[in-house]
Amino acid sequence: MRFLDHIGIAVGSLERRLAFYRALGLEAEAVEEVPSEKLRVAFLPIEGTSIELLEPTAPESPVAAFIAKRGEGLHHICFRVADIRAAMAELRANGFELLADEPRRGAHGSLVCFIHPRSAGGVLVELSQPEG
Ligand code: CO
Repeated sequence: MRFLDHIGIAVGSLERRLAFYRALGLEAEAVEEVPSEKLRVAFLPIEGTSIELLEPTAPESPVAAFIAKRGEGLHHICFRVADIRAAMAELRANGFELLADEPRRGAHGSLVCFIHPRSAGGVLVELSQPEG
């Protein structure tokens, strides 16, 4: 069993885009800084999953580069895994390319890693192991 943890969307301004999602009946549960990625993120819970809005806090943020190149929009999808290191090893053993050798600290204290879009049919895929 796999869970779709969240869908990540790159935005230029959290406040501006939150107004749109609020009009759809979705509320941010929290706004959090993720210093490792130079981001401010807001999670909007939906039954069984979330929308993650990603606002870059510095020009060198990978999400700032994404927006400069492609504009705001769909950025990644994230699957929840119980053991991220085991999942990474399994992917590597099958020849799939990861963006880092070790998981990094993501939002909510989770451990995360990204799979290169080259290995995933053009989709940036994140894996997330919840804290605890
Ligand atoms: Co994410």
